Amino acid sequence: MLTLTDSQLAELGPILTPRLPSPYTDAYRAGITVKQQAAGILHHIPNIMYGGAAGGAKTWWLLAEALAYCDIPGYAALLIRDTWPNLSREPDGLIPIAHKWLRGTPAAWDGENRTWRFPAGATLSFGHLQTPEAHHNFDGPSYQMVGFDEVTHIRPGQFEHLQTRLRRLTSLQVPVRIRTASNPGGRYHSYYRHYYALDGTPPVPGRLYIPSRVVDNPHLDADDYIARLSSLPDVLRLRILEGDWSVDDSGGFFRPENIAVVDDWPRHARTVRGWDFASTDSSVGGDPDWTAGCRVGVADGVCYIVDMVRGRWDPAGVETAVRTAAAQDGPSTEIVIEEEAGAAGRNLVHTYRRMLTGHRVHAGSVSGSKLVRATPFATAVGKGQVVLVRGRWNEEFLTELSGFGAAGSRHDDQVDAAAHAFNRVARYLDDSGSRVRFPNT
Ligand SMILES: Nc1ncnc2c1ncn2[C@@H]1O[C@H](COP(=O)(O)OP(=O)(O)OP(=O)(O)O)[C@@H](O)[C@H]1O
Ligand SMILES: [Mg+2]
Repeated sequence: MLTLTDSQLAELGPILTPRLPSPYTDAYRAGITVKQQAAGILHHIPNIMYGGAAGGAKTWWLLAEALAYCDIPGYAALLIRDTWPNLSREPDGLIPIAHKWLRGTPAAWDGENRTWRFPAGATLSFGHLQTPEAHHNFDGPSYQMVGFDEVTHIRPGQFEHLQTRLRRLTSLQVPVRIRTASNPGGRYHSYYRHYYALDGTPPVPGRLYIPSRVVDNPHLDADDYIARLSSLPDVLRLRILEGDWSVDDSGGFFRPENIAVVDDWPRHARTVRGWDFASTDSSVGGDPDWTAGCRVGVADGVCYIVDMVRGRWDPAGVETAVRTAAAQDGPSTEIVIEEEAGAAGRNLVHTYRRMLTGHRVHAGSVSGSKLVRATPFATAVGKGQVVLVRGRWNEEFLTELSGFGAAGSRHDDQVDAAAHAFNRVARYLDDSGSRVRFPNT
């Protein structure tokens, strides 16, 4: 019989324990999950995706992976998200989580360079790829670890370009690693599904996929979470709950055939106008984002999509559109805008509050993926509780609903605006099913 001696076991101990330098990862180590532990010892594997179900504790793992060698002089790690709002959003953006872990430790935050500097001389930087050219912002330095959160939203060309920044200096005894975390279903779902051989093609040496499941994370109340997700449209449930990459890419979160079009809406309805502001400036080339404002009313257990305005405006144009819609809607319609993290976000909300005196303005910090945020709305659509009031905007909105969540779908501003408004007004829908709430929303 082959047995391990005590001294062999003692040697294995450190190898089988993830590298978690103290005090920088103490918050994580205290509650580390079995899957995080397993995924944290595989540093000899160059490229790992921890992907699948929402809430599987992926983002925390990604941050811990980046910090694994922050006690080694010269080590540099880079963590990337698709946009600055997603990177900086409270409470679950990578930057706020890192602040929670590192505040009060000997590490120092260099806000100008979005970089934590460690006493040993290591660094952890954060970046986003909001514009199609943004990857060139990282052309100078080299890194030994590049991590991408919600990688299915990262343009494949930029993902590949950033891998050229990975370099190990011979003097530095740390592995060179790519780490990614994602739910299935982003814009570039198909590319990453193939990249990690989740489409049945032969696995590529050096790339490993570790499936994330809701039950992997004891910090979430899985029974409650699963119960609440069980009434979701099929595609969304399979992706969010099961972490299933195989489901059809044709969207399917919303079934427009469940939405009737009506000629009018009851004026005693409670109304909210939700805004989704473009995250890219309309002056940037390519395919800039749209800004959309959706007015939603709820009366007698029915949710009416009353109106939608949409445009590719510069910041002054957005202000005009918000002011014009507020004047038309009147003071009884509450206005919901998104409060981005940080001082700029607070200032913007302040500006709007001043500009919209006489109107109720609700500013909510928005977190979680767009899919998760749109889920209560999708659930209400699935139950036939949502109707559209006839208007020229109907067709464009229905088209966006059909493609929402599909790989390759370009814009989701109208759905996001409708979901913002819906999430605010849904409490007046008296059916219990419409009060679905999720962690992170
Ligand atoms: N090691 C840990 N110790 C303590 N709590 C943890 C740990 N890992 C995860 N959590 C808790 O679980 C929550 C969800 O984790 P995380 O945000 O990493 O999940 P996720 O898979 O990225 O979720 P999503 O799919 O929504 O992006 C965290 O907000 C945190 O409260
Ligand atoms: Mg996450």
